[in-house]
Amino acid sequence: MQSVQVDSPEQSSQLAARLGQMLQAGDVIILNGALAAGKTHFVKALTESLGSTDYISSPTYTIANFYNIPSGSVLHMDAYRIESDEEFRDLGLEEYFPDVITLIEWGAKIAEDFDEYLVIDIDFVGQEKEQRQYSFSAVGSRWQPVLDELKA
Ligand SMILES: Nc1ncnc2c1ncn2[C@@H]1O[C@H](COP(=O)(O)OP(=O)(O)OP(=O)(O)O)[C@@H](O)[C@H]1O
Ligand SMILES: [Mg+2]
Repeated sequence: MQSVQVDSPEQSSQLAARLGQMLQAGDVIILNGALAAGKTHFVKALTESLGSTDYISSPTYTIANFYNIPSGSVLHMDAYRIESDEEFRDLGLEEYFPDVITLIEWGAKIAEDFDEYLVIDIDFVGQEKEQRQYSFSAVGSRWQPVLDELKA
């Protein structure tokens, strides 16, 4: 587990853009954190940094949004309303995962469906309203170099 602390939404966006540069199709990222921690903010900043001009919004009700980026697509999911692995599989999104970058808010409950994934925990820290701590951990060898680069 490694952590980074930021003091503003802009710094969160910079962190998201840094991570974005390291991603490739097939990557799965699970975002955890309380309401308004900044999960959607992170996905929006990351996706825009990869060149998307699509409208990026919380998929709370749609469950899944796809955004175009020059190198392919980003799949943005919100698993908040998903209640079981079965319900998740019934969405039929599995065929997309190898070809897109997948970012899943509230994804902890379905993480087991993936062999490899990066987990980002966003926590409120400090006295200031805009301070956040990002903690990174991962399952799978794919992510070791990414964790090393984020540390650098
Ligand atoms: N350092 C920060 N990083 C990200 N967002 C911040 C930060 N400081 C303040 N904010 C604000 O926190 C809010 C985060 O909202 P966002 O919708 O991204 O949260 P969320 O984790 O996706 O919530 P939900 O659980 O409802 O999906 C935004 O209003 C954003 O401006
Ligand atoms: Mg959200």
